[in-house]
Amino acid sequence: MSISRIITKAQKGIVLLPLGCALMFAAPTQQLVRTEMIQAQGPDIPVEIGALLSKYTCSSCHAFSTKLVGPSWKDIAAKKYTKKRIVELVYKPSPGNWPTYPPMIAQTNVPKADLNKIAAWLVKI
Ligand code: HEC
Repeated sequence: MSISRIITKAQKGIVLLPLGCALMFAAPTQQLVRTEMIQAQGPDIPVEIGALLSKYTCSSCHAFSTKLVGPSWKDIAAKKYTKKRIVELVYKPSPGNWPTYPPMIAQTNVPKADLNKIAAWLVKI
């Protein structure tokens, strides 16, 4: 191997090393930001549920204990619905249940399996 080739290899190393380091740090940082966003919904929301509430944008209108566009999860839980009834109400809202709020648009984009998980959590609050 000639000296000039060794130098070129070394130069490549100099360029690639910081790039590698940057990538190693970038990935966990993104994960951290995501986890923090989910936790920001409140310490009472398990991370898995928080992720679903973000994914289906429920969290833009519902927070754990404060009123946003929609009632808080705590206030909804206080109605003591069954899991099945919650699933029904999310797919086909009944705005008369919340006269002081605007009507919720039917959340038909949420797969049943995920909605079951959200409902199972709501009945346990
Ligand atoms: C654009 C705002 C908005 C979004 C997004 C939203 N909601 Fe709502 N939600 C409301 C409002 C307002 C109410 C009260 C009025 C109503 O029920 O129509 C409500 C009521 C509810 C209720 C109580 C229903 C009842 O009759 O007591 C549940 C349960 C609920 N939302 C779950 C969800 C879930 C789960 C998601 C995400 C898949 C979601 N919401 C997304 C605004 C929203």
